Amino acid sequence: MPVLLDGLERLEYRGYDSAGVAVVSAGEGLQIQKCKGRLRSLRDKLDSLPPLTGTTGIGHTRWATHGEPNDVNSHPHVSQNGRVAIVHNGIIENYAEIKQFLLQQGVRFRSDTDSEVVAQLLEYCFDGCGDILDAVYAVLERLEGAYALGILCADRPDVLIAARKDAPLLLGYGDGENFIASDATAIIRHTRRVAYMEDGEVAVLTADSAAVFDAYRRPVEKQIHTIDWDVSAAEKGGYAHFMFKEIMEQPEALRHTISPRLKDGQITFGELRLADDFLRRMHRIYLVACGSSYHVGMLGKYNLERFLRLPVEVCLASEFRYSDPLVDENTLVVVISQSGETLDSMAALREAKARGGYILSIVNVVGSSIARESDDVLYTWAGPEIAVATTKAYSTQLAVLTMLGLYMARRLGRVEEAEYAAVTAELAVLPEKLEKVLACTDACQYLASLYFNREHVFFIGRNLDYALGLEGSLKLKEISYIHSESYAAGELKHGTISLIEPGTLVVALATYEKLLDKAVSNIVEVKARGAEVVALTTESGRERLEQLATHTLVIPDTHPVLRPNLGVAPLQLLAYYIALHRGCDIDKPRNLAKSVTVE
Ligand code: F6R
Repeated sequence: MPVLLDGLERLEYRGYDSAGVAVVSAGEGLQIQKCKGRLRSLRDKLDSLPPLTGTTGIGHTRWATHGEPNDVNSHPHVSQNGRVAIVHNGIIENYAEIKQFLLQQGVRFRSDTDSEVVAQLLEYCFDGCGDILDAVYAVLERLEGAYALGILCADRPDVLIAARKDAPLLLGYGDGENFIASDATAIIRHTRRVAYMEDGEVAVLTADSAAVFDAYRRPVEKQIHTIDWDVSAAEKGGYAHFMFKEIMEQPEALRHTISPRLKDGQITFGELRLADDFLRRMHRIYLVACGSSYHVGMLGKYNLERFLRLPVEVCLASEFRYSDPLVDENTLVVVISQSGETLDSMAALREAKARGGYILSIVNVVGSSIARESDDVLYTWAGPEIAVATTKAYSTQLAVLTMLGLYMARRLGRVEEAEYAAVTAELAVLPEKLEKVLACTDACQYLASLYFNREHVFFIGRNLDYALGLEGSLKLKEISYIHSESYAAGELKHGTISLIEPGTLVVALATYEKLLDKAVSNIVEVKARGAEVVALTTESGRERLEQLATHTLVIPDTHPVLRPNLGVAPLQLLAYYIALHRGCDIDKPRNLAKSVTVE
C-alpha cells in the first residue's frame, strides 16, 4: 500500500476525479478500496479501515470519460465474482457491444464505465479457460480502442499483468520487485531502470521476473533505459505550487535546451537525421499540436515563414487527422508535445506518416510514444513538468522550434548572415534576460490584486503578440476560471469590440515595434469604450505605452522572434497570482488532466 499510494500521489496530476487501489494476497484474495475525489479522500478512507495486506497491487487516479466521477465508477473495477480486478487508461470504443453480450450471459454490471467490461470479460474468459494469461489474450482480441491495463487475479496473487495499446505504459525493474506505471515519476523512488511497452505487448510480472510478449504471444526482449533525472525534479522543493516552481525554472530549462545546441554562434542539432535531400525538396511544413503546444505552433508559423520563406500551416491535432491534410513525401510535419502521449497528436502523427510525411517531433518526455514513432525527435530537456498548466515546457518548445527554423534556413542558405547572427546572439543570453523578467513578480502580484475578481478578460495583439495572447488567455482561464479570449487586435472592429464596456480588463500585447503604432491605435479604441488596459511592451516601447495604458509591464529588448519567450512570463505570473487570489487549486484545475490520452 505505501508503494501504491506514493506512486499515485506522484501521478495524481494526470487525473484527479477519483482514486482507488486493489491488492491481492493468498489469504485475503482481492481487496479493493476506492472513492470519488482526490487521493487524500482515499487516504482518509484507508486510515479509517483495517490495513489492506499483500505485496501485489494496482492503483489508479481517474479523469472521467464514461460515467460521472463517483465511487462506483472509480477504478479498480472488479468482476462480478471478485476474481479479477483491473485499472484502465484509455477508452474501450466497443464497450457497449461487449456489455450487451455479457448482459445476455447474465453478468451483472455495477458501473457506467467502459472500463468495467474489461474486468467482466476477463472473468468470463477465465471461467472458460482457467488460465489468466489465455484469458487476457482472448479479451485483448475483442477490445477496440485504447488501453493501458493493469490486471490482478485472485487465483494468482503473485502475478501482475499489464497490456498496452495507444496509451502510455512502462515497466520498472527493481530488486525483488517490479512495477508498471503510466509515467516514470510514479516509480523513480524504487527504480531508475525502465522499459517502454509497445502497442500489442503484454507483460507478466512477479516480484522476481518480468516477461513481455507481443500480440502473437512471442517473447520480446525489452531494451532497458535508465532515467537520468533526479527525484527532486518532480517535487515542490519548498514552493507553494508546482506551477510557480516551473515558471521560475524556465531560465534554467532554457539553458538546458539551448546551450548544448548553440556552439560558437552556430546552431547544431547533432541528434537530427534530417537529410539535405529532403530539406531541398521540402515544400510545405505542418506544425501540429494541441492546447499550449498548439500556441507554440502559432508562434512558430510566423518565425518559420520568416526564416524559410515556405508555407507553414499550423493545425490543431484533433482537426488535422480529419481534414484530409495536404501531406506528401515532400512535407515536414512537426508534432509538438510536452507529454509525448497526447492521443490527438499521436493520431495526427500516424495520419501524416501514412501520407508519406517526414515526422519531426518536439517532445519533453524522453521515450514517450510520439518521440518513439517520429522519424526525428528534438527533446526540450525541460525536466518533469507536474503542474497541469504548462509553463516551462511551452518556453522550451518555443526555443527549440525557433532554433529549428533558423537551423533549416541556414542549411538551405535562406537566411541572411546578419539575421542569423543577431538571433543566435540573443538566444545565448535569453535565459539571463528571462531571469530579469522573473525577478519582477511584484508588478504581476499587484495587478492580480486589482483585477482578480473580473468576469471577463480580453487579450489583444498582432502577429506574434496575437499568438502570445492566445497562451496568456489560456493560462488565465484554465487555472483561474475567468472567462478570457484572445483576439487579433485588428479584428476587434469587426465585431468583438462590442464586448468592451466601462471597466473591462484588456491585456494589450505590444512587444513588436514594427506594429507599435497599430497596437497604440487599438489601445486607444478600447480605452475610448472604457476599458482598463494592462500593456505588455519592451524597453523601447515603454515610454509610449506608459502614457497610454492603465498599467504597463515591461520586458527587456531582444530580437523580435524571441520576444514571446520573454513576454510569456508576465502572463503566466498574472494568471498564477489571479488564481491564487481566487483560491483556486492551481496545480490541479477542475476538469483537467496533464496527459490527455483520450480523443
Ligand atoms: C495548457 C496545457 C495543455 C497542453 C495540451 C497538449 O496549459 O498544458 O493545453 O498543452 O494538452 O499537451 P502535450 O503538450 O503534452 O501534447
